[in-house]
Amino acid sequence: MPSHLAESPPSPWVARWASLIRPGGEALDVACGAGRHARFLAAQGFEVFAVDRDPGLFPDPPRGVTLVGADLEAGPWPFDGRRFDAIVVANYLHRPLLPILVDSLEPGGVLVYETFARGNERFGKPSNPDFLLAPGELLEAVRGKLRVVAYEDLVVASPRPAAIQRLCARREGGG
Ligand SMILES: C[S@@+](CC[C@H](N)C(=O)[O-])C[C@H]1O[C@@H](n2cnc3c(N)ncnc32)[C@H](O)[C@@H]1O
Repeated sequence: MPSHLAESPPSPWVARWASLIRPGGEALDVACGAGRHARFLAAQGFEVFAVDRDPGLFPDPPRGVTLVGADLEAGPWPFDGRRFDAIVVANYLHRPLLPILVDSLEPGGVLVYETFARGNERFGKPSNPDFLLAPGELLEAVRGKLRVVAYEDLVVASPRPAAIQRLCARREGGG
């Protein structure tokens, strides 16, 4: 991933729901890449943990960001026993992590997820079904555990045409 992506703006979906995160709370950016969401969240005053198997993509994490290098598919979950006020995942899917992410939210914590969905094959990559959400899959992942605040399953034009699903869901409880 080119380093200029560090300067990429956050996804509008992530930016939209950041106001639901407990002020000053702890946020986790999963598969952070060059860190556009970690930077955004740190700038909002959250204490951010950012994890990627290739931490070199995010060479200069700003104050407020703890960068963790870990392979989330080959190794153990690096945040075992920790709970977060927000977990952000963008453009990444490893299905076995979904229940772990749901269980890693504090009461009142929010999961903000956005990634490619079936139908994206029309537009390019990813086209492998392993990396494409099935219809309703994010909803199914949180059913009975989180309260869905917003969900979309659509084709977007920006930053490039893509079929995506996106979810914001909250664990009950908290203040
Ligand atoms: C398309 S990028 C998305 C980056 C970032 N979330 C964003 O939206 O800008 C996918 C990221 O997933 C990371 N990734 C892929 N497989 C991984 C794994 N097994 N463990 C941890 N990170 C992984 C890649 O290194 C890459 O940074």
